[in-house]
Amino acid sequence: MIQRTRSLFLATGTALVLSAFSGCNEGGGDAIVIGEFASLTGKEANFGTSSHEGTQLAVEQINAAGGLLGKQVELRTEDNLSKAGESANIVNKLIAKDQVVAVLGEVASGRSLEGAPICQQNGIPMISPASTNPKVTETGDYVFRVCFIDPFQGTVMANFAKNSLKVTKVAVFTDVKSDYSKGLAKFFKEGFSKSGQIVAELDYSGGDKDFKAQLTTIKNANPEAVFVPGYYTDVALIRIQARQLGLNVPFLGGDGWEGADLLTIGKDAVEGDYFSTHYSPEAGSPKGKAFVEAYKARYAGKTPDAMAALGYDSAMILAEAIKTSGSTEGAKIRDALAATKNFDAATGSITLNESRDAVKAAVILQVKDGAFKYLETVSP
Ligand code: PHE
Repeated sequence: MIQRTRSLFLATGTALVLSAFSGCNEGGGDAIVIGEFASLTGKEANFGTSSHEGTQLAVEQINAAGGLLGKQVELRTEDNLSKAGESANIVNKLIAKDQVVAVLGEVASGRSLEGAPICQQNGIPMISPASTNPKVTETGDYVFRVCFIDPFQGTVMANFAKNSLKVTKVAVFTDVKSDYSKGLAKFFKEGFSKSGQIVAELDYSGGDKDFKAQLTTIKNANPEAVFVPGYYTDVALIRIQARQLGLNVPFLGGDGWEGADLLTIGKDAVEGDYFSTHYSPEAGSPKGKAFVEAYKARYAGKTPDAMAALGYDSAMILAEAIKTSGSTEGAKIRDALAATKNFDAATGSITLNESRDAVKAAVILQVKDGAFKYLETVSP
């Protein structure tokens, strides 16, 4: 059987080598192999588990409907343990060894930024389901995302603080280890400081356990709200310690808050707080509702979160591009992806702009009675 082997070591990127021996590589034989890198374990395991489940559901539906180009689709998933410094190797392996035709991942912007250059250099399209930092798709013309970006998300929360919460003095608490957190903090500040005041700006490092020193400084600055563009595990601990210090003003955040563990760890401490994200199962289109039903049926009644929906959408948009291009060649899939318009996705209609980002609405959720409650949708 003739199969393709791709070399990573040619400066030109992609090389096609014909091999007469099927044992020479580990491509999927007659299947179309798609790679996925995700944080399946470790600190942000909620992210990776959700996006993987959404992606897997999409692949199962695609295969049940006859596959793509007459072939079944095979998903190869690799775990980066939620750690920095793992994703480049993993993506290299997916491309060189598994010979994937495209890569899906990651949720966290920092880890997408590690995988993206490898995809770009090899001419393999990559679609991030949920990374919102602008730099991710700036990596190059093979890198796409199916979500909005943080200049929009930061503005949404700045406007929400000003117009809905009517606060004029806000503190910002940023994870300096996270590209996502630094970017979202910057865009929030740009938006909010047009008419409000940033009364304190403090930093933490993702994974820290004691935030009391910074929270004391924040409290002494008398903010009316605190913006924490972090990931849910850190945010839950930050919120608990803030309450212990008597810092009871509303806390606000972005999509990184949306992990089930925000509630299981944060409990009462996160009650009443607000964050922006990509999607709410309470406010879906017919397509969104069908996705919620299918996901619940597949995963023991579990309600999908934004990462699950975006993981699903990333695979569906890739499948559509493979179908319309009639090819598994990187350049052809890339061209089809770049032309994506009004795609009816679980998270809403997706059009990819010239920067390969999705132009989409955000939703604002509030933690209420131990659950995420839909408040409003904000269009770009
Ligand atoms: N947007 C975050 C990032 O870029 C990841 C994220 C997406 C988290 C969706 C939760 C929900 O790092």
